[in-house]
Amino acid sequence: MFVPISQIENLNQFKKEIFNGKIYVFEKSKITSQLVDQIKKKIGIDYSGELEKLHHLSNCEEISTHLVAKLKNTEIFKNLFYEFLHSINFLQGESYWDKFVVRVAPAKNKFKYREASRIGVHRDTWGTNIHQQINWWAPISSIEETNTMVFFPDYFDRPVKNSTGSWDLNIYLENRKKGDFSYPSAPELLDKLPENVRILPVTIKPGEILCFSGSHLHSSSKHKSENTRFSYEIRTVCQDDLDSKNEAPNIDCELKWQFPKIFRNMKDNSPMKITS
Ligand SMILES: [Fe+2]
Repeated sequence: MFVPISQIENLNQFKKEIFNGKIYVFEKSKITSQLVDQIKKKIGIDYSGELEKLHHLSNCEEISTHLVAKLKNTEIFKNLFYEFLHSINFLQGESYWDKFVVRVAPAKNKFKYREASRIGVHRDTWGTNIHQQINWWAPISSIEETNTMVFFPDYFDRPVKNSTGSWDLNIYLENRKKGDFSYPSAPELLDKLPENVRILPVTIKPGEILCFSGSHLHSSSKHKSENTRFSYEIRTVCQDDLDSKNEAPNIDCELKWQFPKIFRNMKDNSPMKITS
């Protein structure tokens, strides 16, 4: 299910496959290793212990929250990620991205702060209604099946009950500005998935990068773990795909609007616009 790749031969074909649910893993390279090293170096300024053992500290939640906020959209990380996208032949025409986020998933599932917590079952496209969205996700510390990201591959094209009919990104962003995290950061699953649902845990290594459609149903794993997980993520949209409606199928998102405003042009930082 996770298909290894080092470089994109045919970008249209590659994206067509992504929008059909294929999940790629880009192999470790000099640039991706540099990126992991840079992130670790910046983390090291505030926390010099083993990343996987952060939860042993009594103030681990404060440290996680501080690190996530401090490292968000760090210029050198974005520059290296841009270099990576260029090196794999992904950049053709105008491209957009949201913020580069370093995330901390604690060993125990109890933190409150969204980006320093484990996340429930969702599709990223439930938050934006933009089905051309491609997600990039990569571990910084070593991950294990009990604390990683998991896919529910059979639900890529099968609808699930969710709260997209009533959720509003603008309300979430307004509240977040005021430091209020009580409004859900994204629409939520309203039904439980069946007990025997097929689960695909991600066990890639630091330096490797996962690439998948933002329409995939996924979550953090629910188990107790002995490891705190550090990972990074970013989402991209290509203008070509917006223009030619190259996209994943929308099977259960009922948002009335699209929310392009989290995406910015990679070159000049101008906001992404959607014309229909
Ligand atoms: Fe997600």
